Amino acid sequence: MRKVYHGKDIEVSFDLDICIHVAECLRGQREVFQLDRRPWILPDATSADEVADVVERCPSGALQYRRHDGGAQENPDATTTITAIRNGPLLVTGKVEVRYEDGTVEALPRATLCRCGESTHKPFCDNSHLAIGFKALGIPYRIHLSPVRPRLAEPISKEEDPRGH
Ligand code: FES
Repeated sequence: MRKVYHGKDIEVSFDLDICIHVAECLRGQREVFQLDRRPWILPDATSADEVADVVERCPSGALQYRRHDGGAQENPDATTTITAIRNGPLLVTGKVEVRYEDGTVEALPRATLCRCGESTHKPFCDNSHLAIGFKALGIPYRIHLSPVRPRLAEPISKEEDPRGH
C-alpha cells in the first residue's frame, strides 16, 4: 500500500510492502526521513533536488517522488537493466511495469525482484533470502547498518517497522 507525503515543491510516496530496508533514505537525508517521527517523511525539510537525489538511491522503488516545482521528474532509462546482487535479489533499473493478476499495472522506476524463490510477496524481494541463507553469484551490494537493519543479515520485520503503523 503506497502512502503519499505531500510537500510544497515535491511529494514523496512510500510502499512498505516492497521496501528491502537498505535505508539509503534514513542515512541520506535525516531532516526529511526520520523513522521515529510522524509523519516520518517531511518532503519540504530540504531542497526538492536533494530529496529527489536520495529517493533515486532507493533500490527497491519503495520510495518515489513527484515534483511540483517544475524540476525534472524521475526519468528512468528506456533500457531496463537487471543486475544480480550477490546472495540476494535481482536489482532492476529502468522502466518497469508490474502486471498483477487482477489486471492492474504498476509502473516503477526501480525494483528488487526475488530470485531465491522464497519471497511471500513475489515478484518482489521481501528479504526471505536472508532467512534461508540464499547463496548465489552476483555483484556485492553495500548495505549499511541502520535503524531498519540493525544487523547486516537481519532487517526488522514489517510488523516491527514503525512506518507501517
Ligand atoms: S531474493 Fe529476496 S526474498 Fe528472494
